[in-house]
Amino acid sequence: MKPVRHLVSMSDFSKEEINGLIDLARKLRVEWRSGIPRHTLASKTLAMVFEKPSLRTRVTFESGMTQLGGHAIYLAPGDIQIGKREPVADVARNLSRWVQGIMARTHRHSTVVGLAEHAAVPVINALSDLEHPCQALALAMAIRDRRELHGTHVVFVGDGNNVAHSIMLLCAITGMRFTISCPAGYEPSAVILEKCGALRGTCAIEREPEAAVRDADVIYTDVWASMGQEEETETRRAAFSRYQVNEALLRSAPEHAVISHCLPAHRGEEITSEVLDSARCIAFDEAENRLHVQKAVLLFLLGGESVGD
Ligand code: CP
Ligand code: NVA
Repeated sequence: MKPVRHLVSMSDFSKEEINGLIDLARKLRVEWRSGIPRHTLASKTLAMVFEKPSLRTRVTFESGMTQLGGHAIYLAPGDIQIGKREPVADVARNLSRWVQGIMARTHRHSTVVGLAEHAAVPVINALSDLEHPCQALALAMAIRDRRELHGTHVVFVGDGNNVAHSIMLLCAITGMRFTISCPAGYEPSAVILEKCGALRGTCAIEREPEAAVRDADVIYTDVWASMGQEEETETRRAAFSRYQVNEALLRSAPEHAVISHCLPAHRGEEITSEVLDSARCIAFDEAENRLHVQKAVLLFLLGGESVGD
């Protein structure tokens, strides 16, 4: 029997698999736009465990399962109280008896790891404090709609957070260059930097945002205080004040550079409305891609579809 595959970290997928998933996601997008049904996951159920709020993740996974003929169960923060009402391992063991896949948005990354260790079905990380691989895949799809991944320079302006980590790993795997511009003390985690090095990727750290974006193809940003860091909001607002993606910063970037954001955005903080609503911004395309690329992931992990062979 083949071992169960999971998407806990972006590094769980190879370059070939990432490109294969994007190929499949592009087909799914054409089918979806043309109203062609694909019900490969009929009678399959995805359990969606949420410890944090969500718009995009919930709607794209839930409607994605519906579109593939299956069903998704939303388990709200507080419903199952994973790790409190019962241990993570027991939640994984129980869910494995009923459903064909588990999607989890958790505070601690170790919760997603624990689910994957004890589940007999695929586990998909839908954001933990360490990673957000589904977002990185949606970005990869948005980039590939415009240019080849290999050689593309992604510059992340902001916090070395979960989204930055998965994008950094994505870059390492697919041959993109990654630079982060952040204040001292907000660099990516040592664990991810080490993983990136092991994948022969690089992460340049440039304190000056103007210098960082000078030869960017993609400029990315995210909120300064992530979910769970609300009490640090004021400190972070002060630390990141010169790391805003705005028109002035874009004057230092090449004209062809596109801008993205995982959303939700705090308009007027990490990004201005002028930039977010501009023609250069691909954040809403990326948000749409969450639907298509996650459907590809569901077909791959739950539906036995082969990708990247
Ligand atoms: N980008 C993202 O994951 O959005 P939600 O938090 O709304 O799911
Ligand atoms: N870094 C953000 C991403 C939200 C999609 C957070 O974790 O809150």
